[in-house]
Amino acid sequence: MDKITTTKLLEMKKNGDKIVMLTAYDYSMAKLLNEAGIDVLLVGDSLGMVKRGYENTLAVTVEDVVLYTKAVKAGNSRALLIADMPFMSFEVSPQEAVRNAGKMVKNGGAEAVKIEGGEEVIDRIKAIIAAKIPVMGHIGLTPQAINQLGGFKVQGRNDKAAAKLIITAKKLEKAGVFALVLEAVPAALSAKLSAALSIPVIGIGAGAECDGQVLVVDDILGLFAEFRPKFVKRYANLKELILKAARDYKREVKEKIFPSEEYSYK
Ligand code: KIV
Repeated sequence: MDKITTTKLLEMKKNGDKIVMLTAYDYSMAKLLNEAGIDVLLVGDSLGMVKRGYENTLAVTVEDVVLYTKAVKAGNSRALLIADMPFMSFEVSPQEAVRNAGKMVKNGGAEAVKIEGGEEVIDRIKAIIAAKIPVMGHIGLTPQAINQLGGFKVQGRNDKAAAKLIITAKKLEKAGVFALVLEAVPAALSAKLSAALSIPVIGIGAGAECDGQVLVVDDILGLFAEFRPKFVKRYANLKELILKAARDYKREVKEKIFPSEEYSYK
């Protein structure tokens, strides 16, 4: 299968071919997700919650994302590899945004970066693109703004907020983002927004009419069981499988069943 690039994603939108994106944080998962034909791998700052046990994404650093991106890069061959710009890696100035985006590419091996935010980040987006790094936008519910938004709430619910979201999306498209993540907005609004843009809109909790979908891999595999947003479908229950395997192993060691002759050197 051909390597997925930002240009290929545009083509997929034009052809009505849905884009399939998941988060990934390590080598072995990246290899499996490639084998499964997932188009885009995102090293999301969700790593703070699902891999580090933080209560939100705010404490994640550039170094964290670079480290996890390196691991995913090692297992990736076909998917477009995107690294998330964590909180406070781009807020201070366009220069700092470029420097940190550069670390994602140079040190982590990312092929693009993702930035949360609307009009207030447009000068950062333009500066990063000018440094030859493709940028994916992220609007709607932006978890890095949790303290301003007052929690993980659905966005764009009234007419004014919906109209503002469409205007913001168009401005981001004009600024040069190659795609947009749209998080936690009513399905009718994301249908309208996807139709209004020529770049792909990748939804998470944004209904079926987006050009693609993204979810956190630990959520769909049932590995992160602390809470489950309405939009998460669980495709496997690895928590139960892992608990069973670990308990079986423990019992066999305690009862001197493992290692049997089969697992021992003569
Ligand atoms: O950090 C993340 O995993 C994300 C996706 C859920 C879009 O931003």
